[in-house]
Amino acid sequence: MMGFETPRPRERLLESTVLPSGGVYTSVGTYDAAEMVELVSNLSTMTGVPVADLLQDFGRHLFRQFVEKFPHFFAGITSSFEFLGLVDSYVHVEVRKLYADAELPSFTCERPAPGHFVMTYRSTRNLPDLAEGLIRECIRHFGEQIDIRREVVVGESGAVRFDLFAT
Ligand code: HEM
Repeated sequence: MMGFETPRPRERLLESTVLPSGGVYTSVGTYDAAEMVELVSNLSTMTGVPVADLLQDFGRHLFRQFVEKFPHFFAGITSSFEFLGLVDSYVHVEVRKLYADAELPSFTCERPAPGHFVMTYRSTRNLPDLAEGLIRECIRHFGEQIDIRREVVVGESGAVRFDLFAT
């Protein structure tokens, strides 16, 4: 039957979301993070998958892309604690040099004891689920067994603390 084709999910999502960019993205452009949140929220409505799960999955996907596209950040790094400790002080610093208007979070890292790494996420964009997906895929990438405990920092809006325990 002509004219009654069901649009594919990607088209359906883009058609049902109002986006200032028109939903056309390129690697050299800069887009409001609110567009991602809007897309994920509509995808959640379409699929019934919670927004938090979709953001985590997207974080995992992004990490795999980073490994593939920016291998130099991983050269000589042998563990997730080592890599995660460099995200704020090195990786995102380099990102900022390339993309002056990138919207980056901040991470403060501590190592209270061997096998215990603490990473506190702060951002006005409030995307701790995305951060968790990135962290989880980082751990998987290095083939490690690490438990993650996540908690909101009381009294500091937008701050989320990740405690990582090597098992
Ligand atoms: C596990 C490691 C990483 C974590 C946990 C992490 C976390 C995040 C999060 C949560 C954001 C979203 C913005 C926000 O929350 O304020 C972000 C932004 C960003 N990250 Fe990372 N990141 C990691 C590694 C990397 C790597 C390896 C790269 C590149 C090679 C990278 C490049 C970027 C870029 C380009 C943005 C900004 C997008 C924009 O506003 O233009 N990140 N990061």
